[in-house]
Amino acid sequence: MPDDFPLQSQTPDALMLFGFWYRALPANQVRRGQLAKTMLLEQPLVVGRGRDQHGQAFALRDACPHRGMPLSCGQFDGQQIECSYHGWKFDAHSGQCQLIPSLVAEQTLKIDRIYAGSYPCEERDDFIWVFIPDPGPAGAGFSKSAPAPVPAPEIPKFSERYKLAYLTADLPCSVDHGIIGLMDPAHGPFVHQAWWWRSQKSIHEKQKNFEPIPYGFRMSAHTPSSNSAPYKLLRLYADTDSITTTIDFVLPNLRSEIIRAGKYWFSSLTTVTPITRSQCRIDVVAACNLFRWIPFGPELLKFVFAKFVEQDRRTMELQSEGLKHNPHLMLIDDADRPAKWYFGLKNAMLEMKKNGGEFRHPMTGPVTLQWRS
Ligand code: FES
Ligand SMILES: [Fe+2]
Repeated sequence: MPDDFPLQSQTPDALMLFGFWYRALPANQVRRGQLAKTMLLEQPLVVGRGRDQHGQAFALRDACPHRGMPLSCGQFDGQQIECSYHGWKFDAHSGQCQLIPSLVAEQTLKIDRIYAGSYPCEERDDFIWVFIPDPGPAGAGFSKSAPAPVPAPEIPKFSERYKLAYLTADLPCSVDHGIIGLMDPAHGPFVHQAWWWRSQKSIHEKQKNFEPIPYGFRMSAHTPSSNSAPYKLLRLYADTDSITTTIDFVLPNLRSEIIRAGKYWFSSLTTVTPITRSQCRIDVVAACNLFRWIPFGPELLKFVFAKFVEQDRRTMELQSEGLKHNPHLMLIDDADRPAKWYFGLKNAMLEMKKNGGEFRHPMTGPVTLQWRS
């Protein structure tokens, strides 16, 4: 790849990847017997949970298949949603139509063949995940939804007891800018400064090994950067040489980081989710077994991460001003190489979906990158 790889040519129309699980909402925002509205990949959704003891979550397209009234405006009795326009009733989990009040006895419309769009939905690590399938043929209505081909992603955990915490922030930019911002190593000293954390003077040369993994890449197990957040905390618990970290990026939007230090571990799964073509949301969910004995541990870590996420959010808000008028952009080596791999992976996925065949991974083997940060 040339050094000055024009960014725009890689983001044709900010395409979004269908056929994957996405985080829809924090689980505590969806109460039993109630409905919540959200959007993923420009698809309006109504998410809820049944009123029975399991309170299993469901997700439907937030548009009635009759005349498009948002189903979130309807009545939900804990099992069925009644559309507020003509009273059609749908099973909340399958989307199957169960009643059309206007029909008289002689009218034999097969209502059980009518479906509101429904999506596979699973709850994992404090979030409700929704599987957004590849779009069907244009103009076709909904039928019974197919199950997702794989289970929703989960944070790896290494002990029975652990604590979970999450942070979420809306970013006013396309998912591509959200993701490359997330894995950009060079902005740290400029964006994430704080007197109690690090200064621009702490900038130093780094060298990291990367390797291809299915649909993604891995920053190979290494001793973490001396200015990474969980590392600073882990140092309180373990001998610095015993600390190792692995960071993976996997399509469509998953960044996972695992840090282990003897019996202690910290594990996070960060996602950048396309809401529309020009808006995304970052959700950081972390699990760890570090703080069982320190009452303020999780709050402290959450405070540090909240600062980071807010600094990133603010940066992307300002960046979106600059992007409004479609400037020419570039990706440089080596600091922007992970961003190039991201676009390479995404293009390979789009290509495979379009033309079938093998997934053409942009990396052929391990690579060492160097940068200062
Ligand atoms: S629009 Fe929903 S019942 Fe008519
Ligand atoms: Fe950042």
